[in-house]
Amino acid sequence: MSLIKSKKRVADHGEVFTPPWLVEKMLDLVKGETERIDARFLEPACGSGNFLVPILQRKLAAVELKFGKSGFEKRHYALLAMMCAYGIELLPDNIAECRANMLEVFADYLGLTETDELYRAASYVLSLNLVHGDAMTMRDTTGDPISVVEWGYIGKGKFQRRDFRLDVLTGMAGLTAEGSLFAGHKAHDIFTATRSYDPMTVRDLAGYASGETEGAV
Ligand SMILES: C[S@@+](CC[C@H](N)C(=O)[O-])C[C@H]1O[C@@H](n2cnc3c(N)ncnc32)[C@H](O)[C@@H]1O
Repeated sequence: MSLIKSKKRVADHGEVFTPPWLVEKMLDLVKGETERIDARFLEPACGSGNFLVPILQRKLAAVELKFGKSGFEKRHYALLAMMCAYGIELLPDNIAECRANMLEVFADYLGLTETDELYRAASYVLSLNLVHGDAMTMRDTTGDPISVVEWGYIGKGKFQRRDFRLDVLTGMAGLTAEGSLFAGHKAHDIFTATRSYDPMTVRDLAGYASGETEGAV
């Protein structure tokens, strides 16, 4: 497996991929979190998903252990697992590969085809969670601030969505540090979502993907 695509890309973008054996060793350092279905991971230079794909695979293994016997729960918790993986990537081919690689792992696990609602819902989630943008300026390719979607599963097939600005969220650590004006405050007291949504189903999410459901980006 080649760890570079071209010398020019290494020089221009520092594009050297991490080998799978090293990824697994690094993920083992936070093994418990990688096996927690709703633990959130953000990779700010995600390439084609060398970290995010194995993270998803570990989470799906946890879904199988916990919910493998119930088709309904398995499908919804698998989607939640994917909803908790985030990436930012500057180069268009890499972000496209990353989305495709994640979707392939998800679809293979559940035996989905492209026409399945859950496949289309997952594709929509990936289009939001895996951002084509610049992690340094925290802006996407259109120049807008990068949005981070907070997903949650509230049961009975319904998901919650709230959007936050990445630049605001990353300021959180400093603001809540000991000695700061906001020390002792809970993050949610300080940071408000830029947008909140009504609970949505897999069908709603699939509808957003094809523009059939109104109201989401
Ligand atoms: C060293 S590679 C690592 C890729 C992947 N994380 C891995 O370990 O295999 C760095 C990646 O970051 C991307 N990149 C470089 N500058 C970036 C920026 N400012 N914002 C987002 N991605 C960036 C490159 O295109 C490349 O895909």
